[in-house]
Amino acid sequence: MKILIINGPNLNMLGAREKEIYGEQTLESINTEIATFAKANGIETVFYQSNIEGEICGAVQGVKSVYGADGIVLNAGAYTHYSHAIGDALACVKVPKVEVHISNVHAREEFRHLSVLADNCNGVICGFGADSYKLACLAIKSILEK
Ligand code: DQA
Repeated sequence: MKILIINGPNLNMLGAREKEIYGEQTLESINTEIATFAKANGIETVFYQSNIEGEICGAVQGVKSVYGADGIVLNAGAYTHYSHAIGDALACVKVPKVEVHISNVHAREEFRHLSVLADNCNGVICGFGADSYKLACLAIKSILEK
């Protein structure tokens, strides 16, 4: 079982960006932690990050053909709140998909309360820091094993 973890805009700045909200860890360090956790749970991981909307659509579309993965964990950053293009890309692929956020978007500014991606995902996990990604991997594993 293989899961594609996609991070969107500004998540490459973790560790430097708004540490009081997103913590001290870099994306590289979070990805290492996710990979170790996933492996211990029998899951292989592959990671992709882009600041560009169309590239994120391409990664979603390529989940099987390019990455050979069985599910997607997606933190689309601010695109979550307005990118119908990424929403449509998610609708194109028939694998389990979980939207994640490091912060609790519902406890933040109002524009972050809306997701235009969630209805094309199996579920949403937010507010648990780097653990949001790990919980999402377990959710996908559980869906795939049913
Ligand atoms: C985020 C929340 C988004 O609202 C924000 O634009 C991000 C990060 C999170 O992981 O908490 O870039 O997706």
